[in-house]
Amino acid sequence: MNDIKLTIDKAFGFVTPEAVASCKKEVAESLEKLHKGTGKGNDFLGWLHLPSSITDEHLSDLEATAKILREKCEVVVVVGIGGSYLGARAVIDSLANSFDWLQTERKSPVIIYAGQNIGEDYLYELQELLKNKKFGIISISKSGTTTEPALAFRLLKTQLEEQQGKEAAKELIVCITDKARGALRTLATQEGYKTFVIEDNIGGRFSVLSPVGLLPIATAGLDIRQLVAGAARMEEVCSDTTPYEENPAAQYAVIRNALYRSGKKIEILVNFQPKLHYVSEWWKQLYGESEGKEHKGIFPASVDFTTDLHSMGQWIQEGERTIFETVVSVKEANHTVLFPSNEANLDGLNFLAGKRVDDVNKMAELGTMLAHVDGGVPNLKVEMPRLNEYYIGELLYFFEKACGISGYLLGVNPFDQPGVEAYKKNMFALLEKPGYEEATKAIRERLK
Ligand code: PA5
Repeated sequence: MNDIKLTIDKAFGFVTPEAVASCKKEVAESLEKLHKGTGKGNDFLGWLHLPSSITDEHLSDLEATAKILREKCEVVVVVGIGGSYLGARAVIDSLANSFDWLQTERKSPVIIYAGQNIGEDYLYELQELLKNKKFGIISISKSGTTTEPALAFRLLKTQLEEQQGKEAAKELIVCITDKARGALRTLATQEGYKTFVIEDNIGGRFSVLSPVGLLPIATAGLDIRQLVAGAARMEEVCSDTTPYEENPAAQYAVIRNALYRSGKKIEILVNFQPKLHYVSEWWKQLYGESEGKEHKGIFPASVDFTTDLHSMGQWIQEGERTIFETVVSVKEANHTVLFPSNEANLDGLNFLAGKRVDDVNKMAELGTMLAHVDGGVPNLKVEMPRLNEYYIGELLYFFEKACGISGYLLGVNPFDQPGVEAYKKNMFALLEKPGYEEATKAIRERLK
């Protein structure tokens, strides 16, 4: 079986040889820090060997819980934000039928997300939708105290209990949280909900292969064993004993840092498959929260092509030359759609008759890459043989591993996120949360 493949030759014209050489020199040290646990944030390295350490018993427990939700629910609402939301959505959106939620004959419950925003209209419309529906909730929060999911969970739990009764609701709620701390743990224990644990040493954005990602993914009817197998394969491919020339995670970390040191401050993750939109959202969180600190870090952006070639394409082709692209390319589509011939040929497209739609997409991809490189945009490519659980597992672990290495090359702690606290402090002060009295006074003064 082929693995995902990294190609970096279309970046070499844009990096200084010194930048590549210095990053290459430092990469072994970064890998060693990760594997020996001697770098910053070393108490959050539980993800590193997670794929190869997941037990059959654990997967069976997840599958059994997913089965109950699948049998009892028309809709399952996954409540979470950031790392407690994006991994599951990335995998489910990549692999489930894009129009699944419109099908009347369904094999799996519709998966809907909440707690990832505080939009009142969104929550109103969700509550309206769930009226008279058989629904369940997977409530995910490592800290157990994050405002957005706590708010959504309280609303949905109340609705579920009103619709089903408190006892029946218990069967339909699963919580994923810390083993001992936090309000969600306390609540789950008191109510007697089924729970799964997020280990202390796994941070939110590295948690997709923990129950945080695996339970919603299994509930959507996807094969978590294949996902984990793919990730375990990448764990092996990108290990600390793999030579640099054969280690795609080390190479990706080196080339993106060399580009950064050569003035390319923005990385755009590109896909030509709309199903990968949330993989990009997951990747942005992974790299943004891991690297954007101490006034450093590549800004992670993303586009969906060809859609965004008709909007951001102009900027990418001719705007400021501070960007580089990483294309996630899918070699083989899972289905075949042949372009029909038409006698009148009024749209002039008969030259495409008999071709697969994916042939056209591939030429769009190649043409775009050549145009962007000609326009001064370095291009990296990560190619997946096809979209399935195994290769998505490989892709997720590849990006996680490269992120850890890359953060150390940048010289930051890739595993903390001190910056996300600033808005929370202000929000709680403005909402007059008990304990924030001084901050409330100060912020009111500032707003006068
Ligand atoms: O990556 C992270 O650590 C964050 O994005 C968290 O996942 C996010 O803030 C949600 O936190 P929690 O799971 O504690 O509710």
